[in-house]
Amino acid sequence: MYPFELYLPTKLIFGKDSIEKLPEIMKPYKRILLTYGGGSIKKIGIYDKVKELLADKEITELSGIAPNPKVDSAREGVKLAREHKCEVILAVGGGSVIDLSKLISAAVAYDGDPWELVQDPSRVDNEKVMPLADILTLAATGSEYDNSGVISNPATDEKMPIFGELNPFASILDPTYTFSVSAFQTAAGSADIMSHTFESYLVKEGCTLTDGLCEAMLRTVIKNAPIAIKEPDNYEARAELMQAASFGCCGILADGMAPSAWVCHGIEHEISAYTDITHGAGLAVITPHWMRYSLNAETAPRFAQYGRNVWGIHEGSDIEIASKAIDKTSEFFKSLGLPSTLSEMGVSAEHFEDMADHVLKIWFGDFKTALRPLDKAGILEILNASL
Ligand code: NZQ
Ligand code: ZN
Repeated sequence: MYPFELYLPTKLIFGKDSIEKLPEIMKPYKRILLTYGGGSIKKIGIYDKVKELLADKEITELSGIAPNPKVDSAREGVKLAREHKCEVILAVGGGSVIDLSKLISAAVAYDGDPWELVQDPSRVDNEKVMPLADILTLAATGSEYDNSGVISNPATDEKMPIFGELNPFASILDPTYTFSVSAFQTAAGSADIMSHTFESYLVKEGCTLTDGLCEAMLRTVIKNAPIAIKEPDNYEARAELMQAASFGCCGILADGMAPSAWVCHGIEHEISAYTDITHGAGLAVITPHWMRYSLNAETAPRFAQYGRNVWGIHEGSDIEIASKAIDKTSEFFKSLGLPSTLSEMGVSAEHFEDMADHVLKIWFGDFKTALRPLDKAGILEILNASL
């Protein structure tokens, strides 16, 4: 078993009406920066509820945080937080709102431009990060339970992660808040949860306990995503997805496993950087092609374990079971209504070379340590196969 460190300081407050705990978690603070996206929180009534529950606080708002959140919003948020002397951030939304709020939380006490923290996360002063809490509205990224965020800079066509002690101190998780998530975003979020699991699970060596957690994560999404899409207000299905989302990216699925380079995420972030596509939809296209690229005699037992324990495929050799499991994966994404090619999302091969060079330069994971080691030619092979 590989050594690991796991630090999960976030209090998860899960269940219907868990927002009633908001006054308690905000008790130590008077001045709040409330961050949100394009308006879905107003449509579903969370905005009014937050205002009602925090009527005795001074609230400054940063709205309009876009999917694939842009660094400009962080610049605006830092300005507002300083001007109004905010003491805490309350992010209400999906991964984009929470991620952008994490950058603000790190940048308020930083003298330079927020983008410099993304370029070099070692500049984040963990002692000075502003406290952050959130109310999650979309089950997908796991940002509500992890220490990182992903930020886009359209001026440089880059989308990169920021790391630090950026974990929210509390996350309110009410599955009913996800009833209004569209079928497409539900599908994309589900593909994202599965991809987080694959990134940790499909590595050179696993261990019994964490392999089992990963397999249960995958079975959970495979069972519940189609239900949530068909019956958007099915509480149990939404709750199962929300619970799984939080565990997907927090590190627990990597405990004791061989290190992972998170290659599908590295490649997908490059595509989103240039084209602003939805993260989970990009992963649904890239992942099966990465799997096919990675399958060989040496890696077949790992994929076959996935086939047996997740899809219940028992007939055939390791390589046959592995191959069927990969087909099942792409069929599943398609059945959720997700694209199977990048062209369907308007992505062309124009920037593939730049994407491959960039990811190899900036990515935190070493692509050479992937299940099947990847170099620039390998990345281009996957991108071209995905087209
Ligand atoms: O802007 P609003 O109006 O809120 O609408 C959003 C947005 O249009 C909408 N939405 C959210 N909750 C809703 C809702 N619509 C109706 N009802 C609700 N309850 O959904 C759209 C997408 O929202 P977004 O926050 O962008 O989605 P998601 O949660 O999938 O976040 C994606 C971002 O997170 C990053 C991705 O790269 C991407 O930028 N990631 C963050 C990670 C992390 N922090 O650990 C890891 C992930 O791998 C990922 O890279
Ligand atoms: Zn992801």
